[in-house]
Amino acid sequence: MVVTFLVFLLSLGGCTENKTDDIKKPEQARSLKRAFADDFYVGAAINARLISEEDSLALQLLRKEFNSISPENDMKWENIHPAPDSFYFDIADRYAALAEDNNMFALGHTLVWHSQLADYMNTVSDTATMNVYLENHISTIVQRYKGKIDAWDVVNEALNEDGTLRESVFFKVLGEKYIAKAFKLAAQSDSDAKLLYNDYNLCVPEKRGGAVRLVKTLQNEGIKIDGVGMQGHWGLKEPSLAEIENSILAYSDLGVKVSITELDITVLPNPWDLEGAEVSQNFENEDRMNPYPDVLPYSVQLQLAQRYHDIFQLFVKHSDKIDRVTFWGINDGNSWLNNWPIRGRTNYPLLFDRKFHPKEAYDSILSLISEN
Ligand code: G3I
Repeated sequence: MVVTFLVFLLSLGGCTENKTDDIKKPEQARSLKRAFADDFYVGAAINARLISEEDSLALQLLRKEFNSISPENDMKWENIHPAPDSFYFDIADRYAALAEDNNMFALGHTLVWHSQLADYMNTVSDTATMNVYLENHISTIVQRYKGKIDAWDVVNEALNEDGTLRESVFFKVLGEKYIAKAFKLAAQSDSDAKLLYNDYNLCVPEKRGGAVRLVKTLQNEGIKIDGVGMQGHWGLKEPSLAEIENSILAYSDLGVKVSITELDITVLPNPWDLEGAEVSQNFENEDRMNPYPDVLPYSVQLQLAQRYHDIFQLFVKHSDKIDRVTFWGINDGNSWLNNWPIRGRTNYPLLFDRKFHPKEAYDSILSLISEN
């Protein structure tokens, strides 16, 4: 595999950022979903503009490259269930139809999450109300999309970094049993849908320990859980390949499938690393935090390509354990990482550039598959 990447690098020899833009590649012959058809689904998170088919270039790319979709924001509680007795299904319905029309694996993201909650949920303080709201939310949504949404992120980001449970409103009111309740309700509403626990930093040993406990607790209670979603919001160096691999193995050993659910690789400096806990607001205005406002230097482009190559090599090695690899966005221009943790930066975390052209990282991944 290292050899294939070296061959790929040599084939690029001497290219500059502008030059690669002009190279005409036989794109119609290449496709992520085709390349990894025997390994796992390859997915992308899509936004409301794409779901509503208002972004024709993005839609074209989606259809060509991906066979799975995730709704970036439109099935989150505040959007789909903004008031106790009011649901807003328009965009979610279009999302499900898009998946059906294009024969794509559709994820439901997400049923129970402390963030992007509707305001009324944050003020719930008694068990009875919380139970009613949870039941109404999960049953209504999962039943509506029965047979259309293939897998649900049932509970999202319930863990602290040390592996203990986060003090979300769900935890405060119901204690840890809210997790079992959510999975039970989802399973009752659609017994065929795959049910996942999804979180970030699941390669960090303490948090991984917490996720393993969470899965085991459900399994010991006889509650259906099919998979762990490892959000891949990663960097050029971290987490190490060894920790990614250890984590895939740890979850797979529990008898559940792994999905890489929100893959993107930031190439920008992280203010938290540089300043410890003291993050100054002035940081946002400093050029050094946004070092590539116009173009990503070719040397960094190659680092990104190498990193994607290496992690996909690992994914292919463990493809028997991995159901799906989903990128968090279609191209660099619509990535959330342009606005987090500092707003208004220019990041380059995905496989396609702002003009929807495949980057070196795309080629490096396809170089893993011999037929390409
Ligand atoms: O819709 C409003 C718009 O009306 C308003 O004008 C605008 C002003 O900032 O904000 C818009 O809402 C934004 C929303 O995305 C839709 O674009 C929010 O500010 C923004 O905070 C929100 O960010 C989303 C983030 O979740 C919120 O937590 C990102 O798009 C989305 O990519 C991100 O996705 C999460 C996953 O769901 C869970 N895992 C982590 C991942 C990254 O944070």
